[in-house]
Amino acid sequence: MKTTRFPLPLSPLDALTQQLFAQLSLSLCPGLLQDMPTWLAETFQGSVTRRLLIISEPQGWEACAGSALQEACNALGIDTTVCLLPSGEAAKTQTHLECIYQAASDAGLTRSDALLALGGGCITDVAGFAASTYMRGTRFISCPTTLLAQVDASVGGKVGINWHGRKNHIGSFYPAHAVGIDPLALLSLPPAVWQAGWAEIIKMAAIEASIIAAYTHHQTFADAALDPKHAWPKTLWMMLQECLASGTEMTHPTLDSLAQLLPCLTRAIALKAMVVAIDPTETRGERMLLNLGHTFAHAIETETRDPDSGEEVIPHGQAVSVGLMMAFQLAQSLGRVPASDVERLNAMLAAFQLPTTLYEALPQYPWSITSLVKHCQHDKKNAENNTIRFILPTLSSANAQVGEASPCRLSPQAVIEALTPLA
Ligand SMILES: NC(=O)c1ccc[n+]([C@@H]2O[C@H](COP(=O)([O-])OP(=O)(O)OC[C@H]3O[C@@H](n4cnc5c(N)ncnc54)[C@H](O)[C@@H]3O)[C@@H](O)[C@H]2O)c1
Repeated sequence: MKTTRFPLPLSPLDALTQQLFAQLSLSLCPGLLQDMPTWLAETFQGSVTRRLLIISEPQGWEACAGSALQEACNALGIDTTVCLLPSGEAAKTQTHLECIYQAASDAGLTRSDALLALGGGCITDVAGFAASTYMRGTRFISCPTTLLAQVDASVGGKVGINWHGRKNHIGSFYPAHAVGIDPLALLSLPPAVWQAGWAEIIKMAAIEASIIAAYTHHQTFADAALDPKHAWPKTLWMMLQECLASGTEMTHPTLDSLAQLLPCLTRAIALKAMVVAIDPTETRGERMLLNLGHTFAHAIETETRDPDSGEEVIPHGQAVSVGLMMAFQLAQSLGRVPASDVERLNAMLAAFQLPTTLYEALPQYPWSITSLVKHCQHDKKNAENNTIRFILPTLSSANAQVGEASPCRLSPQAVIEALTPLA
């Protein structure tokens, strides 16, 4: 979309970011949701969909003026119906998958029509999985409305549901046919949901140099404008530091904090797009880099999850924040990074009011490193031969920027010994 009618400046995207976004059919535009019919028409050009099934949940639907959006689509001649699911993880169940199939069938949806997700990561995950399986795959449009979903869940094609208490156990890779990101949707986010998204952006900053190195290894840059060295003179870590130095209050969404955020949001999405371009189905290994802090985060979530409802007691982003700190502390104990890197990360997370210790994330919980490491040992992706694979930061580069990480296999005992004194 070329213009924005809204009070949020969007600098022109550099050529590299434009190329990465185009590969994902991703549009980032303030006001995109209010101009949804125009965006749909531009995106699908000749093959405009006749029927649209929107999957959403009450809070996202309300906050994003879903009814007006539905009316605008209907006015353009798109027969639009809506299926509202519960908020949060409660949507990612077989029961609600069935609800979507039923709504799609009732609406007469065919493979040439489209299913559109309007919501956070829970909605984009379940709607994407429904789209991937309904009639062996119908068109899927993703409009993420939380920061975490905009920088992470909506890019990369992972879709799925939880199953018998196991997170994302049933799913597939089904990249959206179009991703529409409207940063203005973030203005209504509760502070904790906003802050959770920042944890993923900070993680991206902590692995940026390694992502760019992997991407550069796979590409030749005939056009210098597409070479990250030229296209991106500033690192994401520098951009985050500039946000903090601006003096803008970043802990909740406002037009000011959103304006500061936009370049970081854009870069974080472009970095995820790079990883996906190299390793689309997580078979080559580069995508593992995205797990920085996540092996501990998943252990924290498993340890504290409500056994009845399956709901997370500590939101994913907050668990990632503590997981990042644990990964950096573990790396420090192995001599991979200096104490100053751990302090830098701590200061960055704290500036976004993210928890940096287990007790900050959940006070009064009887935390035990041994118990968390046991959960890490059950992580099928990373546990092998009585060792656990972590992605850990490596020595910071000469210009003292956090940004490099690599895999490291450790025995459970070594992790317990390194982290117990710090807990
Ligand atoms: N597929 C992937 O690659 C991927 C990556 C990361 C996370 N995820 C998944 O994403 C899920 C978490 O996503 P999430 O953090 O977006 O949580 P979420 O979908 O539960 O949304 C968080 C809360 O924000 C509310 N909300 C959504 N949009 C809003 C808006 N614009 N204004 C006000 N409130 C709004 C929702 O009602 C909900 O209460 C997890 O299930 C996780 O597994 C998937």
